[in-house]
This record gives sequence, C-alpha cells and structure tokens, in this order.
Amino acid sequence: MTLDVRAPRDDGERDALSDLLCVCFNSPADGIAVGMERVGADHQRVLMDGASVLGGLWQLPMGQWFGGRSVPMVGIAAVGVEAAARGTGAGDALMASTVRELHARRVPLSCLYPATVNFYRRAGYELAGSRQRIELPLKGLRVRAAPGATLRPGTATDLPEMERCYARSVGAHAGPLDRRDYCWARVRQPRGETARHWLVHEHGELSGYVTLIQKDSPDDIGYDLQLTDVAATTPGAVTTLLSFLSGQRSLSGRAILFGSDRHPLLLGLPEWLVKVSLDLHWMLRVTHAEQALTARGYAPAVSGELEFELADELIPEHAGPLQLSVREGHATVTREPARSGAGRAPMRLDVRGLAALYSGFLTPPELVRMELLQGSSEQLATLGALFAGGTPWMADMF
Ligand SMILES: CC(C)(COP(=O)(O)OP(=O)(O)OC[C@H]1O[C@@H](n2cnc3c(N)ncnc32)[C@H](O)[C@@H]1OP(=O)(O)O)[C@@H](O)C(=O)NCCC(=O)NCCS
Repeated sequence: MTLDVRAPRDDGERDALSDLLCVCFNSPADGIAVGMERVGADHQRVLMDGASVLGGLWQLPMGQWFGGRSVPMVGIAAVGVEAAARGTGAGDALMASTVRELHARRVPLSCLYPATVNFYRRAGYELAGSRQRIELPLKGLRVRAAPGATLRPGTATDLPEMERCYARSVGAHAGPLDRRDYCWARVRQPRGETARHWLVHEHGELSGYVTLIQKDSPDDIGYDLQLTDVAATTPGAVTTLLSFLSGQRSLSGRAILFGSDRHPLLLGLPEWLVKVSLDLHWMLRVTHAEQALTARGYAPAVSGELEFELADELIPEHAGPLQLSVREGHATVTREPARSGAGRAPMRLDVRGLAALYSGFLTPPELVRMELLQGSSEQLATLGALFAGGTPWMADMF
C-alpha cells in the first residue's frame, strides 16, 4: 500500500471524502457538505491509496491566544479513515503527513479535539487545555444593568465591531481561539440556525455582547438559552449581560455556555450559581518550535535563558538543540550545537511536553513525572516561571 496525503484534485475525490466523513461521524450529508464548503478545497486533505480515497481531514487556519498575542494555529477537524482500512496504519500516516506539512509551512501550532487521545499522541499532540460546559440557572438570578450601559439587539452591521470586542474580551487569556470565518460561522449559524445578538454599549463603545439561540428545554415548559458566543470587557458589560439573562427567567430556566469557570461573564456573578463540568480536553502540537516560541507573549517582568534538546520522533529536522532567551515579554530562539559541559547540560524536552508547557496546562514537575522533560531543579524553576500563565481554556468546538 503506497499512501499519499494531499488536497483533493477533483469533485470525485471531494465527494468520496464527504461520503467517508458522513459514515465516520454518523453525520447527515448536508452537515458535512456545509463543513466542506466552509473549509474550502485548499484546506481539505485526502489520504490516497492509488486512486482510492482511504481517509482525510480538514485544516482550519486561525490563531490561538497565548501571552496576550495571537499565535498562528491550524485546527484539525474531521479526521477519518474508511472503516475497512482501520488498524492498518492509515490514520498514523494521515496525521504524520499533516504535522510534517505544517512544519514545512512554518506553522507554529496545531490544535484539535481528540475522540481518542493516544492516537494523537503518536503524532506529537498532548493534552493542553479544556472546554468546560457551564450551566447558569436563571430563576434565582437577580442582577441590575450597569447605570449608563445600553442594551440593544445586534444586526449584521455590528459583526466587525463584535469581532474586535471578542478579541479584547479573551485576548489576555491562554487558549481561546482567534477565530476565522469557519469558527465565526459556527457561533453565528450553529447547525444551520441563525443566532441572535444583543449588544452592550458604554460611553459610546461596544463593551460586550451575547450571541444565542433558544432551544426547547427537556424538563421545562420554556426553553434553554444556548449562548454560542459571549464577550464582556468591563464589569458594566458583565452585569448588563447578566441582567439581560435574568430578564429571560420567566420562560427560560437556564443559560448554557462553554468555556471556563473563569469566563469573564461568570466572574461577575453575585452568587456562585453555576454548574461546571468538563466537556472535552483539547490537544496541542508544536509544529514549529522557533515560530511558536517567538510568536507568543511572555510576562514582561520575567526574563531568562534556557537551552534544551527537543525530541521529535516524527520530524527529525525539528528535533535538536534550541536556545531560548526571554526579555521584556518577547523571546528569541536560536539553534546551535548543545553547549554541554560541567553544569551546562541542556534540558531534554519531548515535543509533547513542549505543547503542554506552552499552553500552561502542565507544570515542569508534572512533565518530569510523565517523562516528557528532564532538567535540573534550577532549569525547571526558570522554565516554570517563563511559561506561567492562566489555566488554558477554549469556548469553541471545531
Ligand atoms: C481514529 C481513526 C482515524 C484511526 O485510524 P486508523 O487508520 O485505524 O489508525 P491506525 O491504524 O493508524 O492506528 C494507529 C494507532 O492508534 C490506535 N487507534 C486507532 N484508533 C483508535 C481508537 N479509536 N481508540 C484507541 N486507539 C486507536 C491503533 O490501535 C494504533 O495503535 P497500535 O499500532 O499500537 O495498535 C479511525 O479509527 C476513524 O476514522 N475513526 C472514526 C472517526 C474518528 O473517531 N475520528 C477521530 C475524530 S477526533
């Protein structure tokens, strides 16, 4: 079997990929068709065995916020292998080719939601953050809108300003997406429905908004509010949005959103009424270490220099010694032969460990226990200080 991974060349290959993904994900044909269209032909990949499409996936170029900067990232979605070809190494070949392609394109990061974790670990991905489900009961919620804040329904003309507001709302957190069209479409037209928007303005500026759909409630006469997107950049926006939600409480028993228990909206609650549960973990792959380390931000008050030997079994040219220097919120990275010697042995860091460290999901001692990192206690302390940040999270599913 000679396998090749590439963009589909014609409608026949695209249709074969669509059919295969419908079966893999038990998805209606129109759902996959919308996805294929939104992804675009350039970002679809097929795994070919001669003229047969054995599998495929979608690449979603976007960004992810780390250290206050948006780092270019390619999300991977709809990974599937034809049922009869499973267990023969086809999936491994598809993922290995994908991460090598991203490395060659100098893409810093790749992120995905795993249906099975170890399969993606083989391609160098590691657990790196979470998506939590948050249920906010509305019956007992009593919050007054902020004085001076105005609330109104949004229209299509508001969308560009909402995108800027979203970036201000989540840009200082670790992990949220810097969305592109594919993910904006998912929050604005979830599963073919059109969501509605309500906007908060203060001092003439958009300070927050909510995007939602109403869904029949399984255990109520009314409906649930499913918040597909929420941004809040000021305490006034938080209380005004909570006041808006409390105004729905006669017919809506709860609002449901995804993200983190440290979502800006929740931090303004007068009482901790929410139920938080883990929805899924996401995994990260550092596909180009120099690009990834220099593209993100660091705490301005922290500085340090470290040398480590990166292990990457899948991309030999990615492995090797790296010197990292962080000053005033920025990093420089060089690649020189390791300067080993008395007291100067470089750390050893597996590329999976780098992913979990980079996002802030795992600390150096945790990575040592997982045998993804080796270093002296002094090196581990410096590494921990450089990558300290908030708990990584993401609201979006892709
Ligand atoms: C997940 C999937 C892409 C794997 O494809 P595949 O061609 O069977 O994978 P490979 O044969 O290359 O397997 C590679 C390794 O991963 C393991 N693996 C594959 N699928 C697995 C699964 N569902 N659960 C646990 N391990 C799995 C294999 O056992 C193998 O390890 P081994 O060599 O030690 O036995 C395929 O099962 C599939 O299309 N599933 C349905 C869609 C899906 O779940 N996609 C993932 C969405 S995130």
